[in-house]
Amino acid sequence: MQPGTATTARKRLLVALSGEPIRPPPVWLMRQAGRYLPEYRALRAREPDFLRFCLTPKLAVEATMQPIRRFGLDAAILFSDILVLPHALGHPVRFTAGDGPVLERLERPEQVEALDLARARSVWAPVAETIRRLRAALPPGVALIGFAGAPFTVAAYMAEGETSRDFGRARRLAFAAPDLFADLMDRLEQATLEYLSAQAEAGAEALMLFDSWAGVLAPAQFRRWVIAPAARLAAALKARFPAVKVIGFPRGAGAMLPEYATASGMHGVGVDTATPVAWAAGVLPPGMAGQGNIDPMALAAGGAALAQEVDALIAAIAGRPWVVNLGHGIVPETPPEHVVALVERVRSAA
Ligand code: CP3
Repeated sequence: MQPGTATTARKRLLVALSGEPIRPPPVWLMRQAGRYLPEYRALRAREPDFLRFCLTPKLAVEATMQPIRRFGLDAAILFSDILVLPHALGHPVRFTAGDGPVLERLERPEQVEALDLARARSVWAPVAETIRRLRAALPPGVALIGFAGAPFTVAAYMAEGETSRDFGRARRLAFAAPDLFADLMDRLEQATLEYLSAQAEAGAEALMLFDSWAGVLAPAQFRRWVIAPAARLAAALKARFPAVKVIGFPRGAGAMLPEYATASGMHGVGVDTATPVAWAAGVLPPGMAGQGNIDPMALAAGGAALAQEVDALIAAIAGRPWVVNLGHGIVPETPPEHVVALVERVRSAA
């Protein structure tokens, strides 16, 4: 059989996202590729420009495959970044070593009008090629996840111009210039739908929407800028690609999580570290998978503390469809052996 053409293997991630509480639950980790892996650091040294690294299929395929080879995870996530989308739309984005992303600060209507979807399609074309190559390279049981930043989180980085603790500038812009912010959000939503559709067409089997900064919003703004776009994107993607699973991650949603889960219509919803899992498992609609939420710092610490967190998670999700993951991304200081221990513990505990 051709590599990647095996359709008989049950992909545990897709089974869980179909609402089945399979045990052991599938496991993958946000930021499973990246700087905590020495082989990633070596690969990255070949292309210092991070955006160019993301948009070079040979490098992005290799970075995606590195954790798959080491750990026996149930899913691979496309190696890319949420800020590839604003970059593709022509908005200036750069990554500086140490300081994180730096963007041109968006505050004027002309900057919104300059966003160019036609240009974006040609810039993100290599991402589709990366996905096609990954589908051919991945072992049969490993599902491929594509992703994008949710419109609010991407808009927040654009309006802020850099990372931030509370994205105050972005929140203020949404109140002070509502028409401008709504126009920005509309364009990002349209671009995100096209971008995720291109990923599904190329072979992504699940699509994840990262709303990393959803938690900075007040409830009314959370409904308008987080829940409503997530619901429209999930509905459109499910209609276009009935076999593809959609996962939303409204990080920091807190008390808004039940409303997000119900209204968004996602197959799976990411749960962050601060959220009680037993509560989350209870409020997600029946048949909707949860995903999360081990503290990345427990993974960095390893040992008995990590084992205890895994066991507590497995106990809390009893009877529920669940995808074991962290509550946020792996931190660079994590020893790779701790990931081996986590995966073993999940498979033996459940
Ligand atoms: O393995 C994977 O999870 C796939 C790759 C991936 C990256 N970024 C690679 C990356 C994914 C899914 C992302 C998503 C992403 N990017 C998010 C959403 C998830 C989250 O963490 O909340 C956000 C907010 C970003 C934006 C971003 N990218 C920041 C703030 C930074 C700098 C800080 C940091 O963590 O490095 C990045 C850079 C980035 N994205 C790196 C990697 C591997 C490090 C860059 C390098 O190699 O030098």
